[in-house]
Amino acid sequence: PHVGTGQTVAKIILLGEHSVVYGYPAIALPMHSLKMTARVEPVRGGHDEGTLTGLGWSGPISKAPAHFASILRAREVAAEFVGDPDGLLSITTESEFPAQRGLGSSAAAAGAVIRAVLNAYDAKATAHEIFTLTQEAETIAHGQPSGLDAVTTSATSPVHFQAGRTTDLGLPLDAWIVIADSGIHGSTRETVGHVRSLYENSFRETQESLSRLGKIAEGAVDNLRSSDISQLGIKMTESHGILADLGVSTVQLDELVYAALDAGALGGKLTGGGGGGCVIALAHSYEDAQRISDAMREAGARATWTHAPLLNEVVA
Ligand code: MEV
Repeated sequence: PHVGTGQTVAKIILLGEHSVVYGYPAIALPMHSLKMTARVEPVRGGHDEGTLTGLGWSGPISKAPAHFASILRAREVAAEFVGDPDGLLSITTESEFPAQRGLGSSAAAAGAVIRAVLNAYDAKATAHEIFTLTQEAETIAHGQPSGLDAVTTSATSPVHFQAGRTTDLGLPLDAWIVIADSGIHGSTRETVGHVRSLYENSFRETQESLSRLGKIAEGAVDNLRSSDISQLGIKMTESHGILADLGVSTVQLDELVYAALDAGALGGKLTGGGGGGCVIALAHSYEDAQRISDAMREAGARATWTHAPLLNEVVA
């Protein structure tokens, strides 16, 4: 093998997180301006087990914190795929977005490492093979990932995802999205586990909520097609309420949503696993987006990104 690189991007879930785990549809957008890059390098000498750098932590692989497990597993499954399971490669990841904030850093890092290993061995793989490998790596981090993150972090346009099936929506969204980072870690494994225990202990109510989240996501496809962003905004806010009822929001996330709505957002909700992480808000214009972004920073957001999915570009 030689030095190999791989790249993926951040993702946001417009509608359908959590319910997607139970086979309901979801809509997610790749964020092409927030990149994740991985580089792998053959380790000389045979003793060095490799080091992990980037994503806010550096050090020997054996000492890596638990939330990096998917990265290590990604290297392992990719090394098996290329037929060199004992090959030693050190990994470097470079991320333009924070980890553990619902932006898909775990799937993005796993996907980037897998691509980097394939690249290091000049190995070919289909998109489906790469997806399967990423899912295998993700299973370590999340237990039971729907596959939405693995798909969206390497997608080229908005996706509709249901029960492992992806449809490329290819629809530009004629609106602005402001992402606000609460600055608080969210553990998808924990929030997914929490919803699972609700599902097991109060089946009827939980299934009702999950099914409503799924119906909202499905209905939004028409809103996207007709560029009815006001309806889309209403659906986002409604989804946030249901996610909050399911116990995956936090006081900080609720406050960011209220701040966005007060500042004129068409809708707002948490995005991703919740329990911390990010909120997204929808705006008509760049000026509205700026005002919403300022309001969310005032309400405690650690960072905000203003995104025009139409251009697939982060502008601030
Ligand atoms: C996490 O980004 C999205 C969840 O729906 C989990 C999953 O889809 O595996 C919460």
